[in-house]
Amino acid sequence: MSETPAILFVCLGNICRSPMAEGALRHRAKVAGLDIVIDSAGTGGWHVGEPPDARAQETALRHGVDISALRGRQVSAADFSRFTHIFALDEDNLEGLSRIAPQHHEAHLGLLLDMVPRLEGRPVADPYYGGPEGFETTWEQVDAAAAALIDRLAR
Ligand code: 4NP
Repeated sequence: MSETPAILFVCLGNICRSPMAEGALRHRAKVAGLDIVIDSAGTGGWHVGEPPDARAQETALRHGVDISALRGRQVSAADFSRFTHIFALDEDNLEGLSRIAPQHHEAHLGLLLDMVPRLEGRPVADPYYGGPEGFETTWEQVDAAAAALIDRLAR
């Protein structure tokens, strides 16, 4: 790829799933020595300016990744010209993105787990209202997607 890849992860609140995906990819990109622009956003605006959910922070930190400095923001149509790849964490977020997408854009828009063999078409389930094990599953899934992305971009 000649252009620097710029990857945006989008969930509903931008305090659980997408900041965990951002943290996982930032960590793997650093280890791989790859220059990638990485960000996350929410389709909803309730948590703009807030740090990730404490449970998301704890889970990431247990895996060696500090996401405490991230802050929530809402996705916008302008993101379609700033990013080369926009990954929705579930189908609802993909629909929300399709609704705000400019008529003509060059960004790749898709479901995050389509990147992961055997998880194609699956959502990263929202862990917000569940127990701590949900956050661990979220981490495993977003980190598998991050590994797949690094694999692709390193080729
Ligand atoms: P996320 O989780 O989309 O993974 O960040 C959520 C966080 C907050 C809400 C919903 C989902 N909420 O309704 O406030």
